[in-house]
Formats: sequence, structure tokens, C-alpha cells
Amino acid sequence: MSDRFVTQTIHDKTLDVSLRPGAFADFAGQVKVKERLELAVEAAKMRKESLDHILLSGPPGLGKTTLAYILAKAMGVNVVVTSGPVIEKAGDLAGLLTKLEAGDVLFIDEIHRLQKTVEEYLYPAMEDFRLDIVIDQGPNARSVKLQLPRFTLVGATTRSGLLTSPMRSRFGLTERLDYYAAEELARIITRAARILNVEIDQDGANEIAGRSRGTPRIANNLLKRCRDYAQVKAKSATITAEIADAALKMLEIDEHGLDEMDKRILETLVIKFVGKPVGVNSLAVAVGEEPDTIEEVYEPFLIMEGYLKRTPQGRVPTELAYKKLGVSRKRDGELL
Ligand SMILES: Nc1ncnc2c1ncn2[C@@H]1O[C@H](COP(=O)(O)OP(=O)(O)OP(=O)(O)O)[C@@H](O)[C@H]1O
Ligand SMILES: [Mg+2]
Repeated sequence: MSDRFVTQTIHDKTLDVSLRPGAFADFAGQVKVKERLELAVEAAKMRKESLDHILLSGPPGLGKTTLAYILAKAMGVNVVVTSGPVIEKAGDLAGLLTKLEAGDVLFIDEIHRLQKTVEEYLYPAMEDFRLDIVIDQGPNARSVKLQLPRFTLVGATTRSGLLTSPMRSRFGLTERLDYYAAEELARIITRAARILNVEIDQDGANEIAGRSRGTPRIANNLLKRCRDYAQVKAKSATITAEIADAALKMLEIDEHGLDEMDKRILETLVIKFVGKPVGVNSLAVAVGEEPDTIEEVYEPFLIMEGYLKRTPQGRVPTELAYKKLGVSRKRDGELL
């Protein structure tokens, strides 16, 4: 790894952190979710209680982690951050829980990937703020009961369907984040441009917004790429719609935000499988991507945009997918 690369990653990370809104007021979109969370915070503060446990679900890059930090900040408490697969055994969980003070937020990302055994220890901790752990083995094994402070668990998942129902039922609030509207993304882009100290006009922001797959993280990334393009290729101080368009074309992102993998998925469904239902595993093999990534990242967007349908038999392309690829369907399923 070259030095330049290292600096670049560090640099990008700092940017990501600085672009992350720190308060509800800077968090664009998700109006209803925000309203309910703000209400919960205000009520808990009035009663001087800790927040109820909160589950945040939705596709990657829509603001789950951001909201977890905002919640903790609004409550004026510390946040301990971890992730489902990182907690390997009950001891790891005990270590995290006993570090918490009353009211603190424990943020567990990818909570659907918690080990079954760890999950079972979490139930009484969430419900009664108590931890029963077994120490030692064999005849010396004994159970130790620990009383925990009233903490708040904020769980995030891209796959709420994979969460067990006992787990899900222990959250007081369950919020699902949805893809953002283009106007909301344009606002996010304009704000990010201000922080990054780059000029962008309204049309430029709209152009990027319309091609960001409804996702703030993508919008911010595309903004950075457009900034590079404006600076180096267009030698312009302002990102205009033309500059954004040229930059995004160079990245092979089409006018609806579909990228190479989206197109490969649609081509596979339409051409290779001639519109017949396909299971996610066969699709994944055909396009050379992980089934999980297809299900978490690509499919939700293609479904929302109406290119693909999920049926009990498998995934099928819609009329719009044929149109997108410029082919039409014959009655017997063959292509014209
Ligand atoms: N509502 C918003 N307003 C402004 N910026 C946002 C908003 N939501 C997300 N962002 C930006 O998008 C980035 C990604 O958001 P975040 O990390 O919270 O997503 P996530 O849902 O946790 O994704 P993952 O599932 O991949 O962990 C943030 O760093 C932030 O800059
Ligand atoms: Mg996250």
C-alpha cells in the first residue's frame, strides 16, 4: 500500500465523519422517523429516564449509524459502538454492558448477525437490565447475576427479516429508513458541498441527486467525484449539471443512477434467463456477486424503481427492464 493511498483513505474517512450530521436539525429527510425519534428523546429527557431500545433498519447508507450517534448526542449520553459479528461470546457482551453508565447508548450494527448464544444473553439484559453469566465449567460452573444500568440498545440492520422475533419484540421502537427523494438528496448534497468547500449550483445538485439511488452515502461520494472532475478536467470552480453529467458518465452511472452491476443483473434476468424466474443464488453466480449483496444493496433499489419483481418462484424482470435494455419480449419469451 503506497503512502498516497494511506493518506487518501484517512482523508476520506475524516470527510465522511465531517459530512455526518450531528443533530436532528441537520438530518435531511425521513421526516416521520425523525419526528418519532425526536419525540421519544424529548419525552425520555422530560422524565429523566433512559430511551427505550430502538431498532433501525433499511438498506446501506441511509443514515442508521448517523441516527444512532444523533440519538446519543440528543440525550447527552455516551455511545459504545460495536457490531453483531464482533461479539463472539457472552463474555464479550458482558464486557461491553458492564462498561455502560445509566442512559448510555450501546449501538450494535448488523444486529442480525449476532450469535444465537450471545443473543440469548442479551434478552434479559434488554428486558430487566440483568445479566446471568455462567463462569467456570463442569462441577465448578456457577451462574453470576449482574445488575446493569438502564442503558439503551440501538440496533441497526440491513436485513430486518433475518432478525429473530424474540429479538425484534424487545425493541420499544422499530424504525425503517426508506430511500430518499431527489429533493432531499439535493439538500444533502448542497450541505455537503458547503462543508467540503466546493461550489455547486442547484442544477448540479439535482443532477447528482437523481443519480444517487436514493442514498445519502452515494450522493456524498458522487459529489466528491464530481468535485475532482470539476477541478481537474473541467477546470471549473462550480459543479454545474453539465459537469456532473460528464463526471457521472465517466463513472458509468446512467441517468437513473444504475451502475454496471445493476445493468449486469438486468441483462442476466432478461437475456441469459430469458425473463424466467431466477433464484438469488443462481443470479449471484451469474453476475459474480455475493447473494447477500444482491439482496441488501442491488435488489431493493431495482425493486423500488420497478425494474425487478420478487415472486415465490424467483426474481423476474419487469417491462421497464426490457425497455431499459432496449429489447422487447416475444410472446414465447424469446427476445426481439
Ligand atoms: N439524512 C441525512 N442527511 C445528511 N446526510 C446523511 C443523512 N443520512 C446519511 N447521511 C450521510 O450518509 C453517510 C452514510 O450514512 P450512515 O453511515 O449513517 O448509513 P448506514 O445506514 O449506517 O449504512 P450501513 O448500513 O452501510 O452501515 C453519513 O456519513 C452521512 O454523511
Ligand atoms: Mg452504519
